[in-house]
Amino acid sequence: MKSDEVKDRKREIKISKWRLGFLYPEWQTRDREEVSQVFGSQPPDFNGLNHLKIATMILYEVMRLYPPVVALSRMVYEETKFGEVTLPAGKWPPVLKRNLLPEQLLKAHDHIWNQIFNFINSMSLKCAVQLGLFDIVQKHGKPITLPELISALPINKQKSHGVDRLMRILTYSKFFVKVSLDISNNQQKEGYWLTPASLLLCKDHPTSVAPFATAMLDPVLVEPWHHLEEWFRDDAPTPFVSAHGKAFWEFAGREPRMNQFFNEGMASDARFVAGVLTKDCKHVFEGLKSLVDVGGGTGTVARVMTDAFPGLKCTVLDLPHVVAGLQGTDKVNFVSGDMFDSVPTADAVFLKWILHDWNDEECIQILKRCKEAIPKKEDGGRVIMVDMVVVDDDEVTEYEGTETQYFFDIMMMAFLTGKERTEKQWKKLFLAAGFTTYKITPCVGVRSLIEIFP
Ligand SMILES: C[S@@+](CC[C@H](N)C(=O)[O-])C[C@H]1O[C@@H](n2cnc3c(N)ncnc32)[C@H](O)[C@@H]1O
Repeated sequence: MKSDEVKDRKREIKISKWRLGFLYPEWQTRDREEVSQVFGSQPPDFNGLNHLKIATMILYEVMRLYPPVVALSRMVYEETKFGEVTLPAGKWPPVLKRNLLPEQLLKAHDHIWNQIFNFINSMSLKCAVQLGLFDIVQKHGKPITLPELISALPINKQKSHGVDRLMRILTYSKFFVKVSLDISNNQQKEGYWLTPASLLLCKDHPTSVAPFATAMLDPVLVEPWHHLEEWFRDDAPTPFVSAHGKAFWEFAGREPRMNQFFNEGMASDARFVAGVLTKDCKHVFEGLKSLVDVGGGTGTVARVMTDAFPGLKCTVLDLPHVVAGLQGTDKVNFVSGDMFDSVPTADAVFLKWILHDWNDEECIQILKRCKEAIPKKEDGGRVIMVDMVVVDDDEVTEYEGTETQYFFDIMMMAFLTGKERTEKQWKKLFLAAGFTTYKITPCVGVRSLIEIFP
């Protein structure tokens, strides 16, 4: 026999011994590392083995070691199909179905638990924002010890034991860092300090996203998630309707509390995005005399833009319940209306987080109304959008932003009729609405600035 063949044969024998290790456990212990990691083979599931199964397995393993009868052994094995043990078509060494290696089993189990309990991260974060944890640490001005934090928190002090635990999970999820504090009597103490993410959750940070966090985790917006499965089976247009009996915008129009927390959440995001745009995408807005922010909420983008570009005037179009009572200025005026009917005219239309709320037909209608509102391409007319451009399936990477984009896509399905779109899907909509070209600039994290030209 050539040396390769000898190696192969030794390997096969090891695999057989490993798989038959229940007869002589030392085989499994001895060869465990090599067989499981190097060859990726697996031991049988000992549960439910009866004499026939054991006999067939021994027969199979013995036959397997003699190449001339491999085909026969395979047939016997396949025909027997004892319980969960079947052969995958054409691949050696056979993997015993449902038999996971101990490491694989535990890893799979951990993965499931982490996914099941992901919401605990969300809810711990919401609790921290509501308690003002981030603001307290920031106001402290230096890393804060646990007793200092407990005394500053507006809580029932009998519940102090929970603060340590809340801080532990928030530190693990990178909302705090633990740092050593030097103190005079040689005692080492630890304190909690902010991270870039927690700084953005301080309520007085200029681009705080705290209102967005509490809005998205409000019970009104969490409830539809419990109706996702029901929605797949029934004929309700969205899980939001299954949960609340009304469509999203209609419900917001009738429930002042939702109207308020949703608008505040959107305004906090708008402040954040407008800050990025006025810094990194200045050239896109320079030279514009007028802009209409369609679905512009309570006018945050309009205010930031008109401050950043002194010659600019901005009209904010939104539903009556959103703009009711809002006071305009000489640079920002509010118009109550429906973007499906008409859009006020301007040099350019701004659409932030609008089209992802709607299905393709609805988007085409909105885009047509926008096109009617702007000058021709030669005269500088354009629509400026901020929305996600989802990576194509074949380009997906481990990039954290991909999961964020998928989260938003499912959220659009839970709340509205919209979705997050790939470049191909966007292009189709732009062309269908009569636009000729577009330019995508990925400049707001997982979102992009998209310019569309008539
Ligand atoms: C996801 S929010 C985005 C708000 C804002 N553009 C932002 O990103 O901060 C969508 C906005 O569209 C508005 N909207 C929904 N239907 C509308 C319609 N038919 N006409 C005008 N605005 C509408 C909502 O009231 C809401 O303010």
